[in-house]
Amino acid sequence: MPSQKILIVEDEKNLRSVLAAILEAEGFSTIQTERAEEALAVMARDIPVLVLTDQRLPGMSGTELLRHIKERWPEIPVLIATAYGEIEQAVQAIKAGAEHYLTKPVDEGELVAVIRQALSRRGYTIPPHRQDLPRHGIIGESLGTFEMLEMIDLIAPAASSVLITGESGTGKELVARALHIASPRAQAPFIAFNCGAIPLDLVESEIFGYEKGAFTGALRTQAGKLEMVGAGTLFLDEVGDMPLPMQVKLLRALQEREYTRLGGHQPLRLAARIIAATHVDLAKAVEEGSFREDLYYRLNVIPLHIPPLRERREDIAPLVRHFLRRVCAAVGRPEMDIEAPALATISAYSWPGNIRQLENIVERLVVLNRSGTILTTDLPNEMRIAETERALPAGGTYGLHAVEREAVVSALNKTHFNQSQAAILLGISRKQLRTRMKNLGLIGDHEDLLGGEKE
Ligand SMILES: Nc1ncnc2c1ncn2[C@@H]1O[C@H](COP(=O)(O)OP(=O)(O)OP(=O)(O)O)[C@@H](O)[C@H]1O
Ligand SMILES: [Mg+2]
Repeated sequence: MPSQKILIVEDEKNLRSVLAAILEAEGFSTIQTERAEEALAVMARDIPVLVLTDQRLPGMSGTELLRHIKERWPEIPVLIATAYGEIEQAVQAIKAGAEHYLTKPVDEGELVAVIRQALSRRGYTIPPHRQDLPRHGIIGESLGTFEMLEMIDLIAPAASSVLITGESGTGKELVARALHIASPRAQAPFIAFNCGAIPLDLVESEIFGYEKGAFTGALRTQAGKLEMVGAGTLFLDEVGDMPLPMQVKLLRALQEREYTRLGGHQPLRLAARIIAATHVDLAKAVEEGSFREDLYYRLNVIPLHIPPLRERREDIAPLVRHFLRRVCAAVGRPEMDIEAPALATISAYSWPGNIRQLENIVERLVVLNRSGTILTTDLPNEMRIAETERALPAGGTYGLHAVEREAVVSALNKTHFNQSQAAILLGISRKQLRTRMKNLGLIGDHEDLLGGEKE
């Protein structure tokens, strides 16, 4: 199926290529023009499914272009982007039949959502996009989480072993379950087995099962986890705690895809997919001799690392809201709000216990709350102290410097390095922004890359 063409009319070169990149990443193809007159000429021979135009253009304006398009191709949806504050223009555009108006700096999510809506209303099949990946209960908006969801989508159908690594509380088990649910094994069982939580001498019989009389107390034949799980997924949690003799047996079973119950002779087929997880550094355990190297490679066919929460802070706010909603529902209280400074403090904290810790703290905040809103003063002390230290280290200006740097970098990222737009976001002039970028060492070698755009 040829991809649907979207015509972009934007005179600012950087912004035009950013918009094109966003839409192309969503599976559309783009035609780009600088001016409205040129756009009309292009449309006379190559009809797009949708037009996205800037309002302020040299020559014919976006609204005038819109009127021309509506006369000749009334069915083509037109989106107009207006500068911040140009409400009057936006109203004019809507009156003239614009599908929607967007305020600059254009929000990527809004842009994509509006385009998809406009096209689906007109009966087009829309290319699937990354935010449509099934989430399997995994909340988060960070790049790290999107990459993880894509990875789950990619590797779920395979039978290869997966080794999930990550600090405790990062969501290893949740991801293992997601891999199972998204796989063709979803109808078969998922069994989680914690290798560290069972007495050493029982691990073997728990996993492989045993025959009646295999050892004292084996009064009847008992199936092991591998047998119970069948063609499902066996999740071996804390695999680093698996005793060495058991490691040998597991390796053999994985190589031969066969095993026997303890005390038994009849070979049973190993049909399950094995997903292992560890919060310790297994490579180091291999070096130290407490974990077998051959088993490590056998389990680590597909490595999947889950970053700690402090490395994907964009996930914190959505997770807080998710847990607030869930805990409030569970304890039968109306949904609670959280004040912005409290959310900022929570987002800045280091979260050594990751998502599990966040979940527990939200639960505590809800249960102890009287006012219906979570305030900064409700937060545990260690979090408030950490926040103060971060912003104002003893006796130095480095903290403020860091805060300023973070604000500037985040504004630049949000606007795809458009300095004029970043300045608007920060509420300063473009000249002030450039002075600050220089002071912060953000411009220098890259000056040419970042410069060259119009005021
Ligand atoms: N991205 C996420 N979205 C929603 N809930 C999450 C997410 N990640 C983790 N959780 C929740 O956080 C808790 C901890 O996750 P999980 O048990 O999967 O972590 P873990 O890495 O296995 O932790 P541990 O090392 O302590 O065993 C669970 O209640 C899980 O549902
Ligand atoms: Mg776990």
